[in-house]
Amino acid sequence: MERPSVRSYSIRGSRITEAQRAAKDALQKVYGIPVSANKIYLREIFPTAEKIIMEIGFGMGEATAIIAKNNPHNGYIAVDVHPPGIGKLLARIVENELTNLRVIEDDVHVVLPYMFEDESLDGIHLYFPDPWPKKKHNKRRIVNAGFLALIHPKLKRDGFIHIATDWVPYAINIEEVFAGSELFTGGVIAKPDSRPVTRFEGQGIDKDHQVTDLMYFRKQ
Ligand SMILES: C[S@@+](CC[C@H](N)C(=O)[O-])C[C@H]1O[C@@H](n2cnc3c(N)ncnc32)[C@H](O)[C@@H]1O
Repeated sequence: MERPSVRSYSIRGSRITEAQRAAKDALQKVYGIPVSANKIYLREIFPTAEKIIMEIGFGMGEATAIIAKNNPHNGYIAVDVHPPGIGKLLARIVENELTNLRVIEDDVHVVLPYMFEDESLDGIHLYFPDPWPKKKHNKRRIVNAGFLALIHPKLKRDGFIHIATDWVPYAINIEEVFAGSELFTGGVIAKPDSRPVTRFEGQGIDKDHQVTDLMYFRKQ
């Protein structure tokens, strides 16, 4: 499995609380999906789901669990690399008795091409991707032409990606990336009530950051 040479996430300390570690050890085999080079069959995991949606970069997973709870008719696959957040979200699955949420621990650049069939996702949530504000780090931003090429085949023909960011220069950059692509159509939207305020968003709002929601649909 090929791994990207530029990481879109920072390696944070692996400081994980005992509760997060215990949840991870006990629950990952139940609610986690192991990373492998084999495709997974989403219809076997969520046989009755109306829509199957992937969240990329859920952080500590508070918004993820709320969305899954509010939409029991949908199936959710949540992907992140950060062990404390993995443990926390696994614990939230049990606390909220969620049956429609599974967790994958790895870089989405590895997970999507190897594990997901083409046209298998109804939508993707990308909430507050790392903004990488310094110019020399801009190349680490997850939304770029390569990312669009990565997600495009995995979305159904009318599938969507909903993005939110509290960093205005990143929002402008995201609009430019999509405008330069033939693969998607869409743009800025008002914040939908269905998207809870996330932890990272709350920290941005405390600093008076302006939040932008963007919605794009697969065109062809
Ligand atoms: C700024 S945090 C936002 C977390 C959460 N969505 C929120 O709003 O509170 C970005 C998250 O994306 C994750 N992430 C970044 N690049 C990723 C990648 N390539 N694959 C999976 N997760 C990634 C990071 O580990 C981090 O948890």
